Amino acid sequence: MRAHDVIVAKRDGGRLTDEQIDWFISTYAEGSQIADEQAAALVMAIFLNGMDDEEVARWTGAMIDSGDRLDLSSVDRPTVDKHSTGGVGDKISLIVVPLLAACGAAVPQLSGRGLGHTGGTLDKMEAIQGWRPEMSLDQMRNQLNTVGAVIAGASAALAPADRKLYALRDVTGTVESIPLIASSIMSKKIAEGTRGLTLDVKVGAGAFMGDLASADALARTMVRLGQAHGVATSALVTRMDHVLGHAVGNGLEVAEAMDVLAGGGPSDVVELSLALADDMVRLAGLDAVPADVLASGAAMETFEAMVAAQGGDLSAGLATAEFRREIRAQRSGVVQGVDARRVGVAAWHLGAGRARKEDDVSATAGIVCRVRPGDEVQAGQPVLELHADDEQRFARAEAELAGVDLIGAVRIDDEAYVAPPIVIEAISEP
Ligand code: URA
Repeated sequence: MRAHDVIVAKRDGGRLTDEQIDWFISTYAEGSQIADEQAAALVMAIFLNGMDDEEVARWTGAMIDSGDRLDLSSVDRPTVDKHSTGGVGDKISLIVVPLLAACGAAVPQLSGRGLGHTGGTLDKMEAIQGWRPEMSLDQMRNQLNTVGAVIAGASAALAPADRKLYALRDVTGTVESIPLIASSIMSKKIAEGTRGLTLDVKVGAGAFMGDLASADALARTMVRLGQAHGVATSALVTRMDHVLGHAVGNGLEVAEAMDVLAGGGPSDVVELSLALADDMVRLAGLDAVPADVLASGAAMETFEAMVAAQGGDLSAGLATAEFRREIRAQRSGVVQGVDARRVGVAAWHLGAGRARKEDDVSATAGIVCRVRPGDEVQAGQPVLELHADDEQRFARAEAELAGVDLIGAVRIDDEAYVAPPIVIEAISEP
């Protein structure tokens, strides 16, 4: 088989055969016989011409087979996980993973680092002093049986073909493709060994999917892939136009997640956490009521146990940034929106995210949105609080957020604001 022929077949709008897909993925994952430029050409052809359901299923299967599929059969609680397609201020895993464990499930969340303006769960957890993402499979199984919750780094042995392809897609403008996103996410989640999976598919200005039709198609494709591989999968399509909660940035988000675990926190973060948790409890076949478990404090206890089991020290407190600046409202009125993309990009300029995967991220940099859609503000009132370790970083962040009135990141006008529900639809059938 020749890579050239596979590329030409997809370039010309044809479908790839099972043999072509298996050969291309396994050969590319193994080494040097397929060049990066050939793999990049194929993913661009897929980006432009798509893949049908059978091709996506085969592509996903080949990516799973390029590495290990974890065996969690010795875990004695039902396993269930969640995955978000990426949002700004999305600290939901830090709440839902311990919450589900406190409900009686085992949550084996293998996670990644952030790239660009959306943050990664590992980066957030690493804001906790001493916390380590590295775990052997035995340590993971043991912690799932004792604490019930694990957040850890995905090993290089899990879907290695996706690791290589995702890095290529990131630099070749081929990330935002439904078949490529669906197969990338699902190959990793299926390989992780969970029996149940709730997907949080974001739609809106701050998400990969800008419109509902695309988000719906992505959600259904992923639900189909999960179910075809024996994972009970469902999806919630949720709004990502505004920042989720108040905090954007690694340590700032940990603090906000802990506020929710302590029974407080912003209402949208609580609403989304409970919607996802309710679905996960259903998939895991448990009777627990997540809202009651959250209110009991049991989820906070599980979070503390999970952090401690991985070397984290919460008693040390979370570090805070050396420098702060405020951005003030230029007019009075009602907040209509806090633009997720602009705030995400600004937080990234402040040091909360990375431009290349080798870069370090700051544990303390980020943005606290002092207002939420629907809040009344007075001209001159602080609406955004910028945090950085290095004063040089403020200028680019402030430029990204500029014009904090009708056109800036915080949109203010005179109309009343009615908050739409955060969950747009729930999909459990493909
Ligand atoms: N997250 C992934 O893991 N893969 C994608 O393709 C997009 C988001």
